[in-house]
Amino acid sequence: MPKISVGRSDEDFEEHGLKGTGVIGKHLVGENEEAHKANPIHFDLAKPHVMGVFGKRGTGKSYSLGTLAEELQTSGISDNLSTIIIDPMGIYWSMKRPNDRAASLLEDWGLNPDAFDANVYIPKGKVGEFEKGEMTYDDTFTLKPSNLTADEWAMAFGFEMNSETGILLERVISKMSENFEDYDIDRILEVIERFDFPDDVENRLQNRFMSAKEWGVFGEKSSLEEFTNRGQLSIIDVSVFGEMGDGWSVRSLVVGLLAKRILRRRMTARRIEEIDEMEGLNENEMPIVWMMIDEAHEFLPADGQTAASHPLMRWVKIGREPGVSLALATQQPAKLNPDALSQCDVILSHRLTSKEDIDSLGNIMHTYMRHDIQHYIDALPDKKGVGLLLDDNSERIYPIQMRPRKSWHAGGTPDAFED
Ligand SMILES: Nc1ncnc2c1ncn2[C@@H]1O[C@H](COP(=O)(O)OP(=O)(O)O)[C@@H](O)[C@H]1O
Ligand SMILES: [Mg+2]
Repeated sequence: MPKISVGRSDEDFEEHGLKGTGVIGKHLVGENEEAHKANPIHFDLAKPHVMGVFGKRGTGKSYSLGTLAEELQTSGISDNLSTIIIDPMGIYWSMKRPNDRAASLLEDWGLNPDAFDANVYIPKGKVGEFEKGEMTYDDTFTLKPSNLTADEWAMAFGFEMNSETGILLERVISKMSENFEDYDIDRILEVIERFDFPDDVENRLQNRFMSAKEWGVFGEKSSLEEFTNRGQLSIIDVSVFGEMGDGWSVRSLVVGLLAKRILRRRMTARRIEEIDEMEGLNENEMPIVWMMIDEAHEFLPADGQTAASHPLMRWVKIGREPGVSLALATQQPAKLNPDALSQCDVILSHRLTSKEDIDSLGNIMHTYMRHDIQHYIDALPDKKGVGLLLDDNSERIYPIQMRPRKSWHAGGTPDAFED
């Protein structure tokens, strides 16, 4: 049987074969109800990728991100990788449990239910809510206020830099960083008073900083470094900002700072690795980082900017060199930043129905498709976890049945039937 590998160049295939790939599903051959599962599809985990995972609600996006995370954890090269899942719905903690309810389905695939050693991180200030709700977590994370630029604060607060409040903010933050190496929000509140701005402007800014204290993400140290340990699977649970009006701004701030920091560290590590390679050493300095973002259009929208937009676009544009990979899941690819969309080298698209979304897909991968994208979508059988896999590296498109999860997926649709 010819081997199907996606995301891997011919050159890498010749040198490494299928080492450092993971089987994410099987090629579907035939149309609609006639379709049957054929060859396994191997996905390249060793090289950096920008991957898009699309599909309307309930078609398997979150599930498939989990499958990819499982493969990253169990491949022969896992020690050189580190996986971070940005979890806005709070569903990935269940990867710690084996998927016992799918035992027989897994058996058909020659697989067994399996628990994964995932570390679930929550914002430190939200521990109370988690404990009260008996929700699972392993550790907490915090951000340092002094690590934020005026722009990042403004984006998190949702006001323009050239508004009066924005101008005051800019002055305050530059004063802070001139005078203190480290500072907390209380310090910022004090310093705002000392400026000669109209009271209402000062009050408005102070109110925003007071509400920022309630976000529960700030602390004395930044713990973002912990997420890039070798072989580690980190789940950043940012679901708890759900009820807050500025919930998505806070989530974006977390993702933006994390992305910025990891990229910077990988760039430094890459330089050292290059020297090691010259000297014949081959363990990497710092693992290659995979960041998977569910509901990605909220972080990297087509319209407007979030605090995560710029840092994530840097991953998309230059991530190949330092070695960072992104998987972006969204139900509306048309709402995702079009530059990010066009840079995806692999796309897994579960069923889409809106014309706008189908067109946005068709626009980027048209060169090697023999038919209109709609044709391929129409030929998919009506089953959970089916989709199209578009590979820019090999310029191929494969209908795919994604494999069942070894670990429990908590994102299923609840129903009112009694089992
Ligand atoms: N590859 C698959 N094999 C079997 N069931 C699947 C597969 N993918 C998705 N499902 C089923 O579909 C449900 C919805 O998938 P999910 O990923 O949560 O949807 P969404 O696209 O909204 O993120 C899952 O709970 C699971 O039961
Ligand atoms: Mg989902």
